[in-house]
Amino acid sequence: MTTSREVHLKSRPVGMPKPDNFEVKSVDVPAPGPGEVQVQNLFMSVDPYMRGRMMDRKSYAAPFNLGEAMYGGAVGKVVASNDPSLKQGDLVQSMMGWREVFNAPAKSVQKLPGVGLPPQAFLGVAGMPGLTAYVGLLRIAELKADDVVFVSAASGAVGQIVAQIAKIKGNRVIGSAGGAEKCAFLKEIGVDEVIDYKAEADITKALIRAAPDGIDVYFDNVGGAHLDAALAAAKPFGRFALCGMIASYNAVEKADPVYNMMFSVGKSLKLQGFIVSNHSDMLPAFLGDMSKWLAEGKIKTRETIDEGIDNAAGAFLKLFTGDNFGKMLVKLA
Ligand SMILES: NC(=O)c1ccc[n+]([C@@H]2O[C@H](COP(=O)([O-])OP(=O)(O)OC[C@H]3O[C@@H](n4cnc5c(N)ncnc54)[C@H](OP(=O)(O)O)[C@@H]3O)[C@@H](O)[C@H]2O)c1
Repeated sequence: MTTSREVHLKSRPVGMPKPDNFEVKSVDVPAPGPGEVQVQNLFMSVDPYMRGRMMDRKSYAAPFNLGEAMYGGAVGKVVASNDPSLKQGDLVQSMMGWREVFNAPAKSVQKLPGVGLPPQAFLGVAGMPGLTAYVGLLRIAELKADDVVFVSAASGAVGQIVAQIAKIKGNRVIGSAGGAEKCAFLKEIGVDEVIDYKAEADITKALIRAAPDGIDVYFDNVGGAHLDAALAAAKPFGRFALCGMIASYNAVEKADPVYNMMFSVGKSLKLQGFIVSNHSDMLPAFLGDMSKWLAEGKIKTRETIDEGIDNAAGAFLKLFTGDNFGKMLVKLA
């Protein structure tokens, strides 16, 4: 018998989540049953979409249950196997984050490909956030050769990949992020114009200054005033990939208002939301391109790693204060 600790949702947050919405509990994990493996998680991911799962409402992702362990992306090591498909020491990916050790059917975890990347890369650049950037930019926004691209939360897990794929494709890129350090990183990875939105009184004016001839593509991670700015700066027939609207995830009653929707008619804009899990057919092409770009040194990434299950809830909260820089991870072993 092994002991594991896991993070339970103790109460549903109203507004910005607080540490006491979460509780770390110890549980006994028996030896794995027939067809099962026991996995020790090495890293777990915290992601903005988990905020939606903390609410009791119908959505594409089912709500977390109160008083139960939450779940999400994780990578770990098989420590015991009762199935011939996996052996001790294999590295696997699962949706069994927010806990240290777990048993699961071997077929419910995926063996990591041995492509020379650190395991946590499969929670970031080579995982769901990287695929989100690829799908949003290439399929949803239908990126074209001469497009001017604007991406918000540009130094984050998704944003940093969006910015760099667009640069690889030869586009002019404008990125917004909060603070001088994040903006300096965006310059380092080749972003042409950077907007430190926290230092700007008016994001629309800043965007029009950065793109006087307008933008063709907006990759929205933020919503609210950023979306308004993009609507104002868009060229006719601009395409918007609506990926996330993190500015409103903790809104108590109403999401941040968007005032400029009217422009979408006159400018014949295409705005399309998307959920990455509906585009898993693009995974092979993404993994092929991303492995090549990483091997060629064309993609650089930032990550913030907090340590220990006791700090997992705190790591999650950082997504909403901007205290993460790049992919936010928790190291568990
Ligand atoms: N559609 C999909 O399938 C899908 C999949 C993955 C992610 N997403 C969405 O993509 C977005 C980015 O996710 P991620 O995992 O890459 O997170 P992330 O960008 O690594 O972290 C979140 C960042 O959002 C910024 N932020 C937080 N509150 C903000 C506010 N009020 N105004 C402006 N910026 C704010 C902060 O950066 P600053 O310091 O720059 O403010 C923070 O670091 C989220 O909206 C997420 O929901 C969607």
